[in-house]
Amino acid sequence: MMKNELKKAAGWAALEYVMPGMIVGVGTGSTIAYFIDALASIKYQIAGTVSSSEVSSARLASYGIPILDLNKIKILSLYIDGADEINDKLQMIKGKGAALTREKIIAAVSDYFICVADESKKVNVLGHVPLPIEVIPMAQKYVERQLMQLGGLPQYRQNVITDNGNIILDVYHLDISDPTLLEKEINAVTGVVTVGLFANRGADMALIGTTEGVKIFTK
Ligand code: 5RP
Repeated sequence: MMKNELKKAAGWAALEYVMPGMIVGVGTGSTIAYFIDALASIKYQIAGTVSSSEVSSARLASYGIPILDLNKIKILSLYIDGADEINDKLQMIKGKGAALTREKIIAAVSDYFICVADESKKVNVLGHVPLPIEVIPMAQKYVERQLMQLGGLPQYRQNVITDNGNIILDVYHLDISDPTLLEKEINAVTGVVTVGLFANRGADMALIGTTEGVKIFTK
């Protein structure tokens, strides 16, 4: 089965968890694009969405799905987003799409986080893909030096400016055997806006598209 079919199956499977009247947090990426397509089919039943990127906002708007300001919302019961990697504890690496900061904000606010992904994203130990970090541009070289002290090999992501006007460093060779600790350590580096490790606040459920159907994982 093609990877895109597995992403589509996972994206559509998330629709089952969207209840009438809900405000839904919407992530970013190709799997989420399928979720947005699915959401459009019930758009009159939901109260609206909160979007994690300009790209997702454009897709939501193309369907006429309302997008709300997170600051006007007290309760966000559900957040649906993809991942670049996810482990058994439902901790994730995210940020290939450079939307990690807004994604992390929505994840923090939401009561329940469902990760949708194809089976290639499921790993035992995080770190097969580089770890994306959003950085304030003037701090780039300082942050790079600090990341090297943590054992990483940072690489500047060419031609990418985030929705927040910052840069992305993709960090190779980090030991991510303790994701919660590493998330704290990288967060503590001045100039780092967000690290793409979602360990402290991981997902509550994962819907993984496999060749045998969509598998459900919970903590
Ligand atoms: C964007 C992300 C995405 O969720 C992640 O890159 C997954 O994307 P896709 O569904 O296209 O594989 O973190 O910042």
